Amino acid sequence: MRILGIESSCDECAAAVVEEGRQILSNVVFSQRRFHAPFYGVVPEIASRKHIETIYPVVERAMQEASCSFDDIEALAVTCRPGLIGSLLVGLSFTKGLALALEKPFVGVDHVVAHLYAAHLEQDIEYPYIGLLVSGGHTLIARVLDFNRMDVLGTTIDDACGEAFDKVAKHYDLGYPGGAAIDRLAGSGDPRAFSFPVPSLHKGDHPFDVSYSGLKTAVVNQLEQFRIPGYPKSKENIAASFQKTAIDLLVDRLRKAIGHTGLNQVVVGGGVAANSYLRKCLQGEEFRVIFPSLKLCADNAAMIAGLGYHLLRTGQRSELGLNAQARVSGFRKTYP
Ligand code: KG4
Ligand code: ZN
Repeated sequence: MRILGIESSCDECAAAVVEEGRQILSNVVFSQRRFHAPFYGVVPEIASRKHIETIYPVVERAMQEASCSFDDIEALAVTCRPGLIGSLLVGLSFTKGLALALEKPFVGVDHVVAHLYAAHLEQDIEYPYIGLLVSGGHTLIARVLDFNRMDVLGTTIDDACGEAFDKVAKHYDLGYPGGAAIDRLAGSGDPRAFSFPVPSLHKGDHPFDVSYSGLKTAVVNQLEQFRIPGYPKSKENIAASFQKTAIDLLVDRLRKAIGHTGLNQVVVGGGVAANSYLRKCLQGEEFRVIFPSLKLCADNAAMIAGLGYHLLRTGQRSELGLNAQARVSGFRKTYP
């Protein structure tokens, strides 16, 4: 089954053609980064306008690169939640129109679940496993039971992990988007130069939850010191110390989740899965850790088409009345 996937939940307009949920025939991503960079963050109104301008050329290119015509597509899959509502609506409306014109079925896909599917496009992975989803909008640790079923063990109680990277980078003018910039700078910094507080979250009540807003504030509070002329601590040291604290927290929660569930396999997904320190920390663990390749960590439509394939294969179809949702819904938080 050949599926055309469409993704427009944030600042990437993407389309991909994927066969049997696995073989990527094309994977086109148009990043709007340069339009948002002057604002150090995604501006929703700019994002939806850019999606409108680029969605058709992006889909056309995905079809060309896959060397297929719309006749060769059996169905469509599209991100319908969570994300920026205006951006989601562009992809969803476009997909509905195309599905109607082609008289082909379509299915709405959850972006967060799709991030965890990304690694399945490249490797054979058996369920169940512990999923670690770390992106600009979400941070969660879950027991993943199937392609579309998970029990959420822990989440962030405030900022998402990637969001904290982006906010720290903004305050220190380290570049946009912040995650990759901090990762790069941290490579030549001393992670022990600053000591930042690690959130403890009411000691034991929420063993798998994380929190980033206190850490972010602590890092930003160093800014005055940082500006003192001749102050020896560099941007590299701030980046390395922040990154170590932020990622060590995730790794701690992950180890606890492994201990609690007895599962011995972890699948990571989302933009922060590209982080080199996270990848290094999880090397040589006793459990198996699977990361998607860098291209599939960030937002893309191959993961949407891939997950869409499994939904369609099991009989799911969306109606034209399907609406976009800004927030995640339907995950059961099973712990505590
Ligand atoms: O999954 P994604 O592309 O979009 C969302 O669904 O949010 O994730 C984007 C996030 C941004 O916050 C970005 O700063 C972060 O992923 N990110 C990184 C790295 N590359 C991207 N964070 C840490 N280290 C990286 N190398
Ligand atoms: Zn994403």
